[in-house]
Amino acid sequence: LGFKVTYAKLSDLDLLVDHRLSMWHELHPELRTEIDRSRAYTRKWISAKLEHGELVGFIARTPGGRVAGSGCIWLREEVPRPNNPLHVVPYLMSMYTVKDLRMQGVAKEIVKRAVKWSRAHHHDRVVLHASDHGRHLYEEVGFKPTHEMRLIL
Ligand SMILES: CC(C)(COP(=O)(O)OP(=O)(O)OC[C@H]1O[C@@H](n2cnc3c(N)ncnc32)[C@H](O)[C@@H]1OP(=O)(O)O)[C@@H](O)C(=O)NCCC(=O)NCCS
Repeated sequence: LGFKVTYAKLSDLDLLVDHRLSMWHELHPELRTEIDRSRAYTRKWISAKLEHGELVGFIARTPGGRVAGSGCIWLREEVPRPNNPLHVVPYLMSMYTVKDLRMQGVAKEIVKRAVKWSRAHHHDRVVLHASDHGRHLYEEVGFKPTHEMRLIL
């Protein structure tokens, strides 16, 4: 407890990339080579989105200033629907907490901050894809499963 959450700056780019790749390594250890190879284009993508204000990073630190975890909101373009005049939807991604600081509320604090940010910026929802580890955390904050379907090609 007592973690402080601040916005990521451009200088935090490598931290956000490291956390995203660490997330993938934990979710899909069998894709080690592919994940490592994705570093360059992941970095380029996050950098461009941060620069254009299309990605908002949240970084949690301990009272002593050590990075505990992070998560990002990507303002994803959306097809217009009757109630989305902004044509974008906040997509919560890259949730990662460093191993020795897990189960202490770091991720929950980040999710709450991301939701608060989205509400304050007049969005009417937040969406995400949950891993099995993340599901409980998101449900606790009020997320519900949707009817999205997928056909793997
Ligand atoms: C998932 C992850 C972000 C959770 O981070 P965390 O800081 O430990 O989470 P919190 O301490 O805020 O936990 C919030 C709630 O989720 C629960 N939770 C956390 N990790 C869990 C796990 N592995 N399995 C089941 N429940 C879990 C906690 O018990 C807590 O519930 P409570 O409030 O009822 O006690 C972290 O385990 C992680 O980085 N995992 C690897 C990457 C990943 O899976 N990212 C999510 C992709 S959707």
